[in-house]
Amino acid sequence: MNSPVEEIKNRIDIVDFLRFYVELKPAGKNFKARCPFHNEKTPSFMVSPERQTWHCFGSCSEGGDIFKFLMKFENIEFYEALKILAEKAGVELKKISPSDQKQFGILYDINETAKDYFKQRLAQNERPQKYLDERKLKKETIEEFEIGFAPQAYDELTLYLVNLGYDVKDIERAGLNFKSERGNYLDRFRGRIMFPIYNHFGKTVGFSGRILPELDNGEMGKYINSPETPIFNKSKILYGFHKSKNFIREEKNVFLVEGQMDFLMCWQDGIKNAAATSGTALTGDHLKALKRIADNLIFSFDNDEAGLKAAERAIDLANNMDFNVKVLPLKEFKDPAEAVMKKPSFLKSIIKEAKLAMEFYFDAYLKKNESGDFSDDKKNIRAVLAKVKNISSPIERAHWLSELGHKVNIDEKILAEEMNQIKLAPEGQTLNEENFKKINIQTVAGKNRVDMIAKRLIILTLAIGQKLSDEKKCRLFGNLKESIQYLPEKYKEIFELTANEKTSDKPEILNLMESLSLQSSMEIEKLKSDDKAEREFLELLKQLEFEYLKNESEKTAKKIKEAEKKDDKENLEIALKQFDKISKLLHNKQES
Ligand code: UTP
Ligand code: MN
Repeated sequence: MNSPVEEIKNRIDIVDFLRFYVELKPAGKNFKARCPFHNEKTPSFMVSPERQTWHCFGSCSEGGDIFKFLMKFENIEFYEALKILAEKAGVELKKISPSDQKQFGILYDINETAKDYFKQRLAQNERPQKYLDERKLKKETIEEFEIGFAPQAYDELTLYLVNLGYDVKDIERAGLNFKSERGNYLDRFRGRIMFPIYNHFGKTVGFSGRILPELDNGEMGKYINSPETPIFNKSKILYGFHKSKNFIREEKNVFLVEGQMDFLMCWQDGIKNAAATSGTALTGDHLKALKRIADNLIFSFDNDEAGLKAAERAIDLANNMDFNVKVLPLKEFKDPAEAVMKKPSFLKSIIKEAKLAMEFYFDAYLKKNESGDFSDDKKNIRAVLAKVKNISSPIERAHWLSELGHKVNIDEKILAEEMNQIKLAPEGQTLNEENFKKINIQTVAGKNRVDMIAKRLIILTLAIGQKLSDEKKCRLFGNLKESIQYLPEKYKEIFELTANEKTSDKPEILNLMESLSLQSSMEIEKLKSDDKAEREFLELLKQLEFEYLKNESEKTAKKIKEAEKKDDKENLEIALKQFDKISKLLHNKQES
């Protein structure tokens, strides 16, 4: 009998499935699309109906099956993807192995059960109800986001769950209790308003708990959160996103806030395209999840020193991921939650006035002094100049330099001079995708040159085979026969197999063949217009032989050393002769 995973794969065709997520265009016997995982203009995301796989040949260079795709696209773990796909395919999951159930399934169950427990406790306790009421959180919001309360008790929840039959170790794994120094289990959350944290599909995977003010002795954090577990990855999950993602997708715009309360108050106030980081700073993974459905991002940060720091980091991060970034200043309010509480519908009315990130920096750093002039505090001007310097477009940079000149009444030229002296922190630069790419290619080129040449050669051979005229093919492939001997074994094997239209039963070879054949589909179009591919093909053959000789020469040099060490005259003689021969060939190659 098939495993559920195989069964699901049999029932869902990858091409049909991926059509929901990307725009697929035919490319030979395969399909291609713009990769949903990175920004690109020309498609390098290939899908193979034959193998039921996908692969990105662009900067992410990842690939896999429908499971891998869904996990990556939705930022979820395997078990979640399995459940979603099973439902889609109509495959029953009773067949899940007990160890998987124990690993993951139980964690969902425990969080779900705890959530119900917290909800019951809120319904029974007036104090937390009163607190939520004071914060102007409406009943419908509390119900929609299933807010609860963890009583001020040592191990009430643990006992409750154990009584239901859960293993105390699993409760600990779910992050809901921990072992004290005395060896007994204590509930992690005590005396707190409980916000369930949902993954992006709406499953409860953890909690954030806010202390009731009257119980706050300052010893524990105002908020504490579930620890990371196999189902809860903080740096990926955005609070509220499971509800707001459709609104965000519709508007291509996300309003990003710092805390659960900020999110909930915004939601309640009709700002539905919102999401919140919770219990961690904004990460590239958060932004990746957003980037797939939105290009525009409006930040709203706390109106204080810490908020400004967080804003700077977030703005740079988002800029580097090509969002159009704006910032919504909160005027007299300390955070979005307070703004909604004190002045409903105000936030919604000013959201259109969000400022460009650069304007935000101007306002944040360049404060007017008592006599109404902009302070000429050099430190602050330099801070703004550093931001201007970071802008990649020269036109934009010139624009903001001129703006700054007007504002602080300093000649632009002088500002430009000052700006050129500023050294940028490397942080902003390392986040740039282009830089990542460069580094990758360099290291690959250094380490595995022959591999790269061999792969490229197979790709071109396959493409040429499908596209060029017979006459050209003959000429090019004539050269190829001679060079095959210089290929590493596995590529020789692949050449052999493809020439005879056979496949391999070794998974490693099969995967490689599949990947190369996909890449060749992408090349086909490029072959039409000019003879660049032919030239590249011939150049690759030359390089291949050159690399082979270089390698041989190194090997022989080693042999020589060894023979010398052992004082093995006979072998030394042979090796020296060999070395001489190779050197001559190498020399000729370099000349030609
Ligand atoms: P804030 O301190 O701004 O909280 O932290 P807040 O949302 O204004 O809280 P209220 O209004 O006093 O209830 C923003 C977010 O940072 C996380 C929480 O997710 C919070 O919502 N945080 C804050 C923690 O994880 N731990 C803390 O100790 C404080
Ligand atoms: Mn706040």
